Amino acid sequence: MNKELSCVLVTGGAGYIGSHTIIELFNAGVQTVISVDNYSNSTEETYARIEAVCGKNPVHYEADISHPGHLKTICKAHPEIQGIIHFAALKAVGESVEKPLEYYRNNLDGLLHVLECVAEFQIKSFIFSSSCTVYGQTSVFPVNENTPLSEPESPYGYTKLAGERIIRDFAVIHPEIHCVLLRYFNPVGAHPSGLIGEIQLQKPNNLVPIITMSAAGILPAFSVHGNDYPTRDGTCIRDYVHVCDIADAHVKALRFSQSEVQTVNPEIFNLGSGEGVSVLEAIKAFERVNQLVLNYAIGPRRAGDISAIYSDSSKAEKQLQWKPAYTLDDMMASAWKWQQNLGK
Ligand SMILES: NC(=O)c1ccc[n+]([C@@H]2O[C@H](COP(=O)([O-])OP(=O)(O)OC[C@H]3O[C@@H](n4cnc5c(N)ncnc54)[C@H](O)[C@@H]3O)[C@@H](O)[C@H]2O)c1
Repeated sequence: MNKELSCVLVTGGAGYIGSHTIIELFNAGVQTVISVDNYSNSTEETYARIEAVCGKNPVHYEADISHPGHLKTICKAHPEIQGIIHFAALKAVGESVEKPLEYYRNNLDGLLHVLECVAEFQIKSFIFSSSCTVYGQTSVFPVNENTPLSEPESPYGYTKLAGERIIRDFAVIHPEIHCVLLRYFNPVGAHPSGLIGEIQLQKPNNLVPIITMSAAGILPAFSVHGNDYPTRDGTCIRDYVHVCDIADAHVKALRFSQSEVQTVNPEIFNLGSGEGVSVLEAIKAFERVNQLVLNYAIGPRRAGDISAIYSDSSKAEKQLQWKPAYTLDDMMASAWKWQQNLGK
């Protein structure tokens, strides 16, 4: 880690990706990590879990970034902040269709307030959680950062596309602040310790938590949404990437944005494994690695699902020296370990 990088603020630090990133920041030698979260989709208990993993606890504030002023007060109290990693957002695609205004308010107002603080307090680095959802369904694979973006299917997806645009416009008038947009593909799995992972306060929408909760008997048999897609086994293809690899990419992106190596502002990186895995292949991997038999049936297609997407992440490899270290088997084993540890 760049020696001068000693204090980083993370919004949404009690959440799934934020908590894993805090551990990576501490492991990389950052002395002070400040987490700001309103616990709308997480709990404060996450910090004790972080401490159990790495022996360090972030400075943490309960605050809502979509409210003007909250974050400003925190930034004022910490003039030592050198970078902000902005995770805090609502992320349930289906819920965003039912509550579009809530999503726009939370995700866009939140982003605007964070950027206002970045500018006012002259914070050198700003890292944004974007998503492969900005590409929509494309016919050319793998998807690289120059693949044209398309109109998102959901209000959630639109908050990411609009967020990217806002940051692009911001960077024009603030060239001194280095912004990085990280487009995640499908982050899954949990810390190998099994001590932190994704907390499901709501009904899960994504395949891996559905699998683990079904295997644990919390959910009944689950449905595979369609097996008539134009893919090798008819089920949807996604690019799964271990959450610890995603966390590591944030540390590398921060390092990059603190240096003069970053010449494009904002810079954009895809974060995926580069491999397309079908729903049935993911299920089989989980069964094989964990020696379990899952209870599932093929059901109808789900509205809004694209048939396939996977990433070309070679730009992140070249410029950030980032390459996923964990395999699909690691993702499935750690997800199950976390599920089994939950509630203990
Ligand atoms: N997990 C994924 O599959 C995925 C994929 C692509 C992009 N992303 C993006 O990555 C980011 C992190 O995702 P995650 O999976 O860790 O989600 P998460 O829900 O686990 O974490 C988000 C955290 O932000 C907090 N939060 C939300 N709104 C807030 C607000 N107004 N003020 C303060 N805190 C607030 C929540 O309480 C939660 O702890 C999000 O921006 C999400 O859109 C996630």
